[in-house]
Amino acid sequence: MSEQVEKWTVGRLLNWTTEFFKSKGIDSPLLDAQVLLAKAMQIKRIELYTNFTSEPTEQQRALFRDFVKRRGAGEPAAYLVGVKEFYSIPFQVNPNVLIPRPETEQLVLESLDRLKNFTNNCNDKSDDGVGVSFCDVGVGSGAIAIAVALNYSRILQSLSITALDISPEALEVAKANAKSSGVLERINFLQSDLLDNVEGSFDIIASNPPYVSRIEYDGLPVDIKNYEPKLALLAGENGTEIIAKLAPQAFEKIKSGGYFLMEISPAIAEPVKKILETAGWQNIQILHDDRIVCCEK
Ligand SMILES: C[S@@+](CC[C@H](N)C(=O)[O-])C[C@H]1O[C@@H](n2cnc3c(N)ncnc32)[C@H](O)[C@@H]1O
Repeated sequence: MSEQVEKWTVGRLLNWTTEFFKSKGIDSPLLDAQVLLAKAMQIKRIELYTNFTSEPTEQQRALFRDFVKRRGAGEPAAYLVGVKEFYSIPFQVNPNVLIPRPETEQLVLESLDRLKNFTNNCNDKSDDGVGVSFCDVGVGSGAIAIAVALNYSRILQSLSITALDISPEALEVAKANAKSSGVLERINFLQSDLLDNVEGSFDIIASNPPYVSRIEYDGLPVDIKNYEPKLALLAGENGTEIIAKLAPQAFEKIKSGGYFLMEISPAIAEPVKKILETAGWQNIQILHDDRIVCCEK
């Protein structure tokens, strides 16, 4: 009697790969397996469920095997497939930009909340009559600036957005993402070391700056440390170095009554509060399990 060979169906490939990724200590083993298989088969992730018993072609399986090998060695799934969803928006990513994180969505939410208040208070116009102005410092893939632009369409005409980064490669990615999201014309992209090259002033400045200390950086998992840009993560010995420069600069560039919001690490919440106080910021609030800080001028 001939032995029946079990087929490599979508379901079986996902099960096997999930177990393999688990054995490698990968945080989201099933999600990563799904993202990679969907990319190899050029279908949407949700479509895997309706294809559970179908067999990918040899070519698709070869591509998937390569993805699985590289993911198993540490390469992030988002870089392998070239895209990461943030705030329900697909962002193109490559190793020149940090992969946008879910926790940064809180920074977008808090920024949108304050933009709304600001707009309500100002009757859709700021003091100078040119509209509300928003600046994203360290734009990376464009995650924050583009999510704000797309989700603030109610007053988009009067919302001017500046997005800067020290990395020209990151700015290229951000511009490509702004183009595919249809907001390229709405954002003024600028290469700048923090706010050094920025003219004018803003109602809101938001930033997810590098805030990782040397010790934390050395202990980061391989899939972050070996693949994501060091420039986006490491701030210096203490993790507060970039924030210490940005906080007084932002204070100079913010309009009276404006807000400054940052994503931070809970490990530096207290020193960041002191830095902000010294720079003159008022009503300093540390929110979302010490991950977001918001203050006012
Ligand atoms: C943590 S990443 C944040 C990227 C993106 N905003 C996000 O939330 O996914 C920090 C970004 O700041 C940029 N950056 C680092 N140092 C900078 C500096 N001195 N001036 C401007 N941008 C800087 C990095 O290139 C990187 O894109």
